[in-house]
This record gives sequence, C-alpha cells and structure tokens, in this order.
Amino acid sequence: MPRMILPILAVLILGAGHALAAPEAPPMPESVPPLTASNLRCEYLRDPLGIDVERPRLSWEVTDPTGTRRGARQSAYRILVASSPERLAMDVADIWDSRRTPMALSAHRVYGGPVLAPGTQVWWKVAIWDEAGRRGADSRPATWSVGPRTREDWGGAEWIGAPPQDPAEAAGPEPVIPPSPLLRHNFMASQRVRRAILHASALGVYELRLNGRRLGDQWFAPEWTDYTERIQYQTHDVTRLLHEGRNVIAATLADGWYAGRLGPTRWDKEFPRRGVYGIDRRLLAKLDIEYVDGSKETVVTNGDWKIWTDGPVRSADFFLGETHDARKRVPNWDRVTGDDRDWAQAHVGLWPDAPLVAQPNEPVRVVATVDPVAVTEPAPGVHIFDFGQNLVGWCRLSVQSRAGTEVTLRHGEMLNEDGSLYTENLAAAVQTDRFLLAGDGLEVFEPQFTYHGFRYVEVTGLPRKPRPDQLKAIVVASDTGRAGHFRCSNPMLNQLAENIFWTLRGNLISVPTDCPQRDERMGWAGDMQVFAQTAIFNMDMGAFFTKWVRDIRDAQASDGRFADIIPHPYDKESRFTNAPGWADVGVILPWRQYVNYGDTRILEDHYDAMRRFIGHVRAENPDLVWRNSVGNHYGDWLNGDTIKAEGYPATGGELDKTIYATMFFAHSTDLLAQAARVIGREDDAAAYAALHAEIRDGIVSRWVDAEGRIAGDTQAGYALALHFDLLPVALRPKAADHLAAAIARYDNRISTGFQSTYRMMLELTRWGRNDLAHLLAESTRFPSWGYSIGQGATTIWERWDGYVKGRGFQDPGMNSFNHYAIGAVGEWMYRVILGINPDPDQPGFRHFTLRPRPGGTLTDAFGSYRSIAGPISVRWAIEDGRFNLLAAVPPNTMATVVLPVAADAPVLEGEGPAAEQPGIQPHAPIEGCATFLVESGVYQFSAPWAAATP
Ligand code: BGC
Repeated sequence: MPRMILPILAVLILGAGHALAAPEAPPMPESVPPLTASNLRCEYLRDPLGIDVERPRLSWEVTDPTGTRRGARQSAYRILVASSPERLAMDVADIWDSRRTPMALSAHRVYGGPVLAPGTQVWWKVAIWDEAGRRGADSRPATWSVGPRTREDWGGAEWIGAPPQDPAEAAGPEPVIPPSPLLRHNFMASQRVRRAILHASALGVYELRLNGRRLGDQWFAPEWTDYTERIQYQTHDVTRLLHEGRNVIAATLADGWYAGRLGPTRWDKEFPRRGVYGIDRRLLAKLDIEYVDGSKETVVTNGDWKIWTDGPVRSADFFLGETHDARKRVPNWDRVTGDDRDWAQAHVGLWPDAPLVAQPNEPVRVVATVDPVAVTEPAPGVHIFDFGQNLVGWCRLSVQSRAGTEVTLRHGEMLNEDGSLYTENLAAAVQTDRFLLAGDGLEVFEPQFTYHGFRYVEVTGLPRKPRPDQLKAIVVASDTGRAGHFRCSNPMLNQLAENIFWTLRGNLISVPTDCPQRDERMGWAGDMQVFAQTAIFNMDMGAFFTKWVRDIRDAQASDGRFADIIPHPYDKESRFTNAPGWADVGVILPWRQYVNYGDTRILEDHYDAMRRFIGHVRAENPDLVWRNSVGNHYGDWLNGDTIKAEGYPATGGELDKTIYATMFFAHSTDLLAQAARVIGREDDAAAYAALHAEIRDGIVSRWVDAEGRIAGDTQAGYALALHFDLLPVALRPKAADHLAAAIARYDNRISTGFQSTYRMMLELTRWGRNDLAHLLAESTRFPSWGYSIGQGATTIWERWDGYVKGRGFQDPGMNSFNHYAIGAVGEWMYRVILGINPDPDQPGFRHFTLRPRPGGTLTDAFGSYRSIAGPISVRWAIEDGRFNLLAAVPPNTMATVVLPVAADAPVLEGEGPAAEQPGIQPHAPIEGCATFLVESGVYQFSAPWAAATP
C-alpha cells in the first residue's frame, strides 16, 4: 500500500466513512445505502427568489453516503414540486411531478409544470434510484419563487427620486454629483403578516431598509447591465422585518454605473464621463404583503414617498470614492420614529424603455475581511496601512474625535520607494474616501456606494497615532462559490494559484472586469475569453456567465459584430467592437459554459448571435482572411515585443495581426459548427464545418510551409495554430518542434501575449514538451509568473514587469497589478498538474479525463474541483520510486485515468493489479500511457516511476 494514502487525507477528500473495498453492483448488499440527491440548484442558484425564467432548470449532485462506492450511478429520478413545504413533505406534488424518469442526467432537468405566475413560490425535492434500482431517501427540500415579468406585474410602482438635475451641471470634467437622496415611506400593515416579498430596482444603485434594518446582503444592486437594453431587479423576503401596524421602508440611491463616471482618460479626453446612461437616480420597488387570513396588500414606490436630498453621503462614485458627513445623518430616518415633516414629495420619473429582468446570478456581497499586517508613517501624520494582500473592496474605519474632523483614506496597490502611496497607475480613479465625524463618541465608517482596488491605504486626519485594529479591509465580489483548490510541491506555484484566485475574485464585480483600480474597470471581452476556463476551475461561474452572456448579446452591434467591452457604454455601433480575440468571446464563452456545465440552453439562446457574428466576418472578408472589420485590433496584446528589458529581444514576439485574426475566425467558426450540432442544427453544422475547413486551408496555404513553419516563426503563431487544430495532422509535431525552437531563441522565455500564452503552455504539454511547459511555469526569470511573485505580487499583474525592484514601475498609463489575463495559466495548472479535463463530448463532467502530468521540480500535487456533477479530488506524489495517485471520481460520473507511466507498466490499484479491480475497465493506451476507464469511487493507483514519462 503506498505510503501517501493517509487516512486523514481520505477523510479530507471524502468526508468521513471511507472503506476502500468497493462492493460489486448489482446485486447490492442491504448494508450499502442507496444514493441521494444533494446540493439542489435552480438555474445554477441555491433557493433563488424572484427568478423570471419560465422553464427553470433543476440540478443536483448524486451523493453516495459511503463516499467510496464504486460505480454509484443514478438510474432514474423523480422531481416533486409543491405549493408549500408541508405539501412537499407529504409528497403532494400539486405543482408538478416529473414521475419516475429513467435517466442518468442530474444537471439542467427542465421544470415541466405549468408556467408559474409572478409571486408564486414553490418547494421541490428529488428522489433518485441507484444503479441497482433502489430508491434512496428524498433530498432536502429546496425552493424558488417567481418575480415580475411585465410592467403590469409591478402593480403600478413608479420610478422615484429627486427632481431632475440640470444636465449642464452634471456634464463636463468636474460634474456635480449630488448627495445621495434618502427616500422614505410610512405604511400600515393591517394584520399579522404571513409573508412579505419585496422586488426592487434602480437607475443607479440602491440600498433599502425596512424599520431600520438593511435589506439583504447585496451591494451595488441592481448591478451593471446596459440600462438601455436590460435593467435588473432583486427580490427579498422581508417577512421577518415587517410587523402589524406602522412600518417604514426607506432607501438610499447613488450613481453606480448608471449615472457614475465611466471610461478611461486614456481613450478620450472627455472621459471619465458622468451620466453615460442617465443622470437622475431613481428607485422602483414593490412590496407584496400576504396576511395570515390570506388577504393581500401591495406597497409601491410612487409620489407619496418622501425624499431628503441633504443626507450624509455627500457624493459617491466608483472611481472617485465616497464622502460621508456624519453630521448630516438624519436621526431615525429609516424608522417609524423618524420625523419626515420637512421632507419633500418624491419626484416621479419616466418608466425606462428597457425591460426589467430578474438578476440571474449571485449578487455582489462581502466575501471576506482582512486585517492590516503593518502600519507605517512615511511622513508626519500620514499613516499607511498594509493589508498584505492586493484586494478589492473598501475599509471600515473606527475613530473618535471632534465633530467636523475629516479623515481621508486613499487607496493604492503599491508604495513608492520612499514608502508613500503609489497612485499614478490609477489615472482618474482617485479612490479616496472622506469621513467627517459627528463627534458623538466612537464612530464607525464604511462607504456604501464605491469600491477600490488596493493593498495599501493612506490615512490622514486622524487625531492621534492609529492602532492597527482601527482599519479593516472589507472584500467584496460577485459571490460565486469557490470551486477549486490547488496545491503542489512548489511554493511559488501555490502562491501563483492564490494570486490567480484573488485576481479573479477581485474582478468579478457584477461583470468580469479587466482591473478593479484604475479608471477602466470594464468587462474587457478578450480578457475573460482567455481566462474563462481558469475562472471555471476556481469559482462556480455558471450563473455569472449566464448573466454576462446576455450582456454580450446586448452589446452586439446590429450588423453582428460582438463588442470588445461588455457591457458597452460608448455606442456599440461605432467603436470598441469586433476586435479579433475580443469579439470571439461571444462564441468561445458560451461554448465553455456548455462543455463545463452541460448547458445546452445557453447555446440555443445565443446561437443566433454567434451565427450573425461569423456571418458578418465572413461577409466582410470574402477571401476568408480576417482583414476587414477588425475594430481596434489589439492583436496578441502585450506580447513580448512590448517588453523593454536588457537582453530581451526587441522584436520577434508578435504574430502578424492578420494571421492572428484569421486563426480566431477559424476557431470560432469551428466552435459554431460544434454548437450547431449540439442543438440539432445539422445543416448549419455541416455548412460551418465546411467554412471552417476553407478558412483553415487558406491559413495553411498562405502562411504555413511544408515543414510546418508558420510565417513569422513566433511562439504565438504555433501556440494558436496548434491549439485551434489548424494544421494538417502530419505537420503538428513539426510545428511543436518549431515552437520549442522559438522558445529557445528567447533563451527559454516567453514572448507571447494575452491571447497565446496559456494556449502555448497547453500545447507544449500536448505535443511532448511538458518539460518545457514546466520550465516556463516554474521560472522566476523575467518575464515569468515567478518573476512577479519574486517582486512581491499577491495578484496577477497586467504586465510581466509591472514593477521591478530597483528599477521601479512600468508606464503608469497602463499598469494594473490586478489583471487576470496572463493568469490564464491557471487552466494549465488544473489540466496538467492536477490533470482535470472536461470532455466536450460528455459535457457537464459526466465523463472527464484525469491525466496528471508531472514535470519540472514537482514531486506532488493535491487539488480539487467541484464540478456541476460533484467534487473531483486528485492527489499524486512521486515517492520511493513510484507514482502514486489518489483520485475521487464523483457518483454518476466516469473518468478516463491516464497515468504518466508506460502502457505496459505494472499498475496497481489498491492491493492488486489495476485492470482487475472493481469499477475499472481497461482502456486502450492513450499516447503510450497506462490508461483506465473508471466508474465513480475512490482509487489508489500506484506504478513504478521512470523519470522519462511518456
Ligand atoms: C485593458 C485590457 C484590454 C485591453 C484591450 C486595456 O486597457 O486593461 O485588459 O483587454 O485594453 O487591448
């Protein structure tokens, strides 16, 4: 028995109760418990309230209570949907009963009952039958409810706020941001309340309160969409906050993305501009009350509400920060005891043209708090708090002093050599919060309507030398759950995995932003296009991408061009559209969603948009070379030719932009053909496959010679051509050799950009140069991931040399320290080091390939990924001359395990020869490696290790 298989590890991976001797099934001894369904989700979310999907999809994980049974499979399921938890408990499925459905699938089962009316809440559970036909215990109950679908469903609610601002005052480089209005409404609840549900939205961002208590834990609702196309609303269950008698509902509004400043100065001298979508902040809300006797009442926003426009939030903006004057607080403004006699009547604005839709993804929430690790005083009275981690959010300040004392917090990612705060790279985003004290004892401040990217905070204006516990960093992000974990024997790679995770989380703020700090913070399409799989390995991206794919469609130009920035706030018809590699996100991202989550609906919904994009590129480029309609054409952004460093080649890194673009055209067409096949459009599939072949042949005849050399001989050219399978099969190994030679010319360093780096890593491994891929991954020489870590990076940098000890900073015009694009190497780490690979032919991890590929200095690795089908865990180690692998394959899935040992190696599983163990079927060797097809269960493989692995 290999030494590494410690019981503690098995418990870690599986939870308690593992027994490695798996029973044969069927027949099944009675002592083996049947399977149950767990982790129930509706449209990717746990117990969502107020969804607007008519046919929601239901998913669960199949759980084996023993944690280790081999071959545990679901053979049938039954979904019960009831109108109350009590009915559900009694198995009265008065809304829908799927009946026993013989089927193995456990993801995205479409609700088949009647379309539910807005306001309806239902409860559901699942029973499943295992591979021996035994029915397990019912799952725990779950719920979803339905929100408004049409304007009528809002029950006469109106958009209210302050009287319109003078547009002249709101325009220009120094626009007036009016104080955040406070809104308030008194109402009576005539009886005891059984249920109270509130739906709300805003033009701007809102925070709602009921009888003095904040509603929900979301921030920046209704979040960022193109407000001319789609405005989101949220639903809150407020039953517990409402009582019989008088109640007060209250709200604060701020600019957010709707009215706030957007756009980098770098692009346009009139940027950042306030009011891209509008300047007048408005609230919409509807409260549905159901009393114990069954009668109902509705409270809506309208002209009866009161407004106060001189509140404590003096101005708030994502780029600028927030100013809060505690002397302006209105006592009890959000409670029945408050006095609103001096308040004005709210102004009623127009109903916007865009449809209101339910927010389909997890809201922005506080996801962590971080304490400072050090406080310094680089100048008298100027204190710098260091949080030890570059992060995204804001600070909570505790302070006591005289009324009117002004404490200023400036946020930055780095320090200057003299220890002062470095802010040049923030451009117009000054990220400054100001707190003015009321002087009434210990006061605690937090901004409400802004966020910053920072590791360091400069605090001035404090009455005395601060204590570290006076400041805490509050970390916010769209609260997608964590899906993956990565560890290995190289601490630098572990730090890299952490940096990738922090960078991802810090840039999931309603949309996937390029960076969270400077005056940009946009949903840059090319960045998430390369990073999507890494994101998926780290976080549950299903719901987040569902929302963003709608944003992609909203940002599509009328002629089919996909946008470079999503949402697109600057006239999507005229600029920032169709850049190759950026626009392609509109095809590549839904495909990733399909492969990883088995989501065919996203392909159906998005198919026409993809078709129009490919149709446009084709129509504009009749010779199938993508030269026309390339927008800003960023090419392989920030490739080696943009690096200026001694001893590093000045040219030779950049792939010709036309070749680069045409390769993307081929790839997206290929994926479109595959998508067409998945959704049953066979004719389209054939036509796009033919088009793909034509584009590909054109690439080969124009730019690839008989030896597989690609014009320009760049690393990037080979990386893309290999990754997109563009070369004739016979030329691929040759191209891989040229790739290795191109890397050697750079003295074994990277010269690739955003779009080709991680693809190169994957192709090196795929084409027999795993050694070289590991060398690059583990390198600490410039330019490399390890280099930035050596310079102190705690997040991924936009540039390889963002900061160099001794030399200082790169061009402050574009130098983010929290930019995930080159962190896309995370995909390689999960696919190659851990070896977890989804299978496009059996999407949603119903089958996957487990192929850890040791290399470089690595002697072990340990990690997990919670797929939509359940948690996958891997631990491998090279010890005592053996390669040992412990793998957990979730119930109801199968894995092809490819070991990094020769096909004829004597592989053990547990105590005996692998091929003879239960749950394991022999499989033809893949690329000369010992290969097994395994059913669900926990496996311990072990084989003699020979360093020269296949
Ligand atoms: C962003 C990038 C983006 C690029 C387009 C930059 O300003 O920060 O990440 O993809 O523009 O080239």
